[in-house]
Amino acid sequence: MKGIILAGGSGTRLHPMTLASSKQLLPVYDKPMIYYPLTTLMLAGIREFLVISTPRDLPAFERVLGDGSQWGISLSYAVQDQPRGIAHAYLVAEDFLNGERSALILGDNIFYGSGLPDKLMKARESGHGASVFAYQVHDPERYGVVEFDDGGRPRSIVEKPREPLSDWAVTGLYFHDARAIDIVRSLRPSARGELEITDVNRAYLEMGALDVEFLGRGYAWLDAGTPESLLDAASFIQTLESRQRFKIACPEEVAFSMGWIGREHLLGLAHAISGTTYGKYLSWIATEPLPPGSTSAASPGRALAS
Ligand code: G1P
Repeated sequence: MKGIILAGGSGTRLHPMTLASSKQLLPVYDKPMIYYPLTTLMLAGIREFLVISTPRDLPAFERVLGDGSQWGISLSYAVQDQPRGIAHAYLVAEDFLNGERSALILGDNIFYGSGLPDKLMKARESGHGASVFAYQVHDPERYGVVEFDDGGRPRSIVEKPREPLSDWAVTGLYFHDARAIDIVRSLRPSARGELEITDVNRAYLEMGALDVEFLGRGYAWLDAGTPESLLDAASFIQTLESRQRFKIACPEEVAFSMGWIGREHLLGLAHAISGTTYGKYLSWIATEPLPPGSTSAASPGRALAS
């Protein structure tokens, strides 16, 4: 399975902060926003990624993330020249995907919760069809909205409905099998001129192949697309990190926990930035014993609730 991180857009709701820099590179407390979606997909066991952004911003992503080898992963890059919609990412990613299944995540979506790694692994392993995640919100009309039948199975999925049939928003994290590309090819742009990811998910629903996982009590799903939500996200991360010592969405730690980089390599990364809080944290996790009861590093309690 391969991962796609969509980090395009002009970030107009964050102007003037985004006049020179991509929204997804703005800091969320102590690290660039894109670290959060990247580590979410790493927790699904994904090691090969395509980052899609604008011609203006792509070089900055390459500077920040490199080729991924420092984290035991592979990162490549592609341009989306116009904002053509989330689903358009599949067309940009066609060569990269090369017929494989994929997980697509929006570069401003932040997920947190101790059960998340298991849910992500389950979505990854479900084999075929599509898996999406639903989150109960106050303002469903801002999102894709999924409605359920009495048995809890998805019945309809609608993009930004004026009169939502439920308060379950579909988050910006999608697992799709290889059929997604053909589905996108059959789509027409919506009224806002975009190829809608909700239309892709509806096609899976109509084929009886859409699985919806609930992110209920105990999960946080944040986006960081406005000044208020950016500050909220940063405060949330700061509160957890300063209280509990563990960092959230630290790619070095996730890579180490997954066994993709070794202790010496992690210590080398720590050493390169040894004067910083972040560097000190890397040294600490390289030497810290696992919490009692942990059978492997990939257990909740480490930074694995990205
Ligand atoms: C997009 C999707 C929407 C989804 C949301 C999650 O909305 O179109 O279905 O619920 O992301 O963040 P947009 O960011 O384009 O408004």
